[in-house]
Amino acid sequence: MELIKRGAEAELYKIMYNGRPAILKRRIPKRYRVPELDEHIRRARTRREARLLDRARRVGVHTPEVYSVDDERMEIIMEFVSGQRVKEYLLETGDYGIMRRIGAIVAALHRNRIVHGDLTTSNLILSGDGIYVLDFGLGSISDSLEDKAVDLVCFEKSFVATHSDIAEEGWSAFREGYSQYGAAEDVWRRVEQVKRRARYL
Ligand SMILES: Nc1ncnc2c1ncn2[C@@H]1O[C@H](COP(=O)(O)OP(=O)(O)OP(=O)(O)O)[C@@H](O)[C@H]1O
Ligand SMILES: [Mg+2]
Repeated sequence: MELIKRGAEAELYKIMYNGRPAILKRRIPKRYRVPELDEHIRRARTRREARLLDRARRVGVHTPEVYSVDDERMEIIMEFVSGQRVKEYLLETGDYGIMRRIGAIVAALHRNRIVHGDLTTSNLILSGDGIYVLDFGLGSISDSLEDKAVDLVCFEKSFVATHSDIAEEGWSAFREGYSQYGAAEDVWRRVEQVKRRARYL
């Protein structure tokens, strides 16, 4: 098995699964957590990630197909998506127009009560047939304006930090794409509230 990434939460391996290239994502123990709680958190995130990948896929958002879930080993085996991460694509090309498509994708998620929980350009892969969304382990099923607004505030923060040179144009393209969501205006109003509140914390 080829280790492709050891992140804060998980190890990712590239494997073959039934003759197809796949990714094995294994959530690794965190020693600073009490073991019982640690297992509970890893199991919950493993299940949640698999469930949300499937749900997003069913509403027409490109996500890797889940091949198998093992919540004892804390592993998900999923389709390997070939392509380039949006992070590197943007850093290399500066093609901020892609953020409009990403806005439309997040609109589709939110319209279908899917809150991603960790939107970043590292969790998006530009593949031949579209933009794939990954890494739903912190996501939830929620129709709350607050949850959706927080999803956007976090994304903007990471986007601006990673892509400071195109932050303004990129984020306004994102807003255009997101406006496909019927409740977009309500969410943006809540975004302003969340930011105001954050300043007083
Ligand atoms: N199905 C997949 N196909 C192709 N590459 C993938 C796939 N899943 C993950 N990757 C690659 O591995 C990286 C990390 O995956 P993921 O975000 O799921 O793990 P993570 O541990 O939560 O990482 P991070 O802390 O960086 O968000 C992704 O940015 C992507 O480059
Ligand atoms: Mg990630």
